[in-house]
Amino acid sequence: MDRYAVIGHPISHSKSPLIHAAFSEQTKQSLVYERIEGDVDHFEDEVRAFFADAHNKGLNVTVPFKERAFAMCDKLSDRAFMAEAVNTLYMHNGELVGDNTDGKGLVRDIQENYGVRLKGKRVLLLGAGGASKGVMLPILEELPESLVIANRTFAKAEHLVGRYRDKATFSERLPSLKACPYDELDQVFDVVINGTSASLSGALPKISSKVFAESTHVYDMMYGDEGTVFNRWAKDQGAAHTMDGLGMLVEQAAEAFFVWRSVMPDTAKVIGDLR
Ligand code: ATR
Repeated sequence: MDRYAVIGHPISHSKSPLIHAAFSEQTKQSLVYERIEGDVDHFEDEVRAFFADAHNKGLNVTVPFKERAFAMCDKLSDRAFMAEAVNTLYMHNGELVGDNTDGKGLVRDIQENYGVRLKGKRVLLLGAGGASKGVMLPILEELPESLVIANRTFAKAEHLVGRYRDKATFSERLPSLKACPYDELDQVFDVVINGTSASLSGALPKISSKVFAESTHVYDMMYGDEGTVFNRWAKDQGAAHTMDGLGMLVEQAAEAFFVWRSVMPDTAKVIGDLR
């Protein structure tokens, strides 16, 4: 039977095996999907050992190994290249191929599950770390009117934007893309996406509540049973519509499943069950 796994450290909390088991049952694809507790000293060896067995078809990679997976690939998808991080690995013609399904997962959750189109919208992305870098290309491909990257450390936002201007292959039709310091954010956005890790420590990015109108759609890439700090704050500031990252988790898994199996699972039921 074809075997897949997710590798990370720590990995015991990962919901990926549950999600992929649901996908395989639903699509009648016969496969097993396991967890691998990665060793920070031997990650690359572990990946090579995994793919040395021909039954082992694909790996998902999670924290803290996405950049190391990126660095060891023979080939990369455009979205992995721009993300500088890989969450999906497989072998093709003897070469290790890296892909990144996070951004597509985010975009599909926003558009398909919540019904919010990004085309023509003014989008604000908070944060300039791995999470934001991973989703920029798929957001830009939806052709929003504008994408503003704001970060506590402004230089990192500027750097990210500069990289996209230099490297993105579709630059001739690049939507308006710019970096903005937190203290200069004073206009309303249609969509505000929180890609910072501030809420891990219960903190909020220090931005003006002027970015929210009642009609603003707010997306926090984090999720939690009680909602997220960021979404609660956005609601208090008057934003009526909030979304959390649980759907993104399932959608990035679905996109990885599609990359490996060429079959797209139905995600709605899986998201509902996880809630
Ligand atoms: P990840 O891979 O989760 O994105 P990361 O690469 O360490 O993690 O990036 C964390 C992001 O969250 C950064 O944009 C960081 O801002 P800085 O670049 O200024 O450090 C942001 N972040 C973390 N804690 C924050 C806080 N309390 N307020 C605002 N931004 C915060």
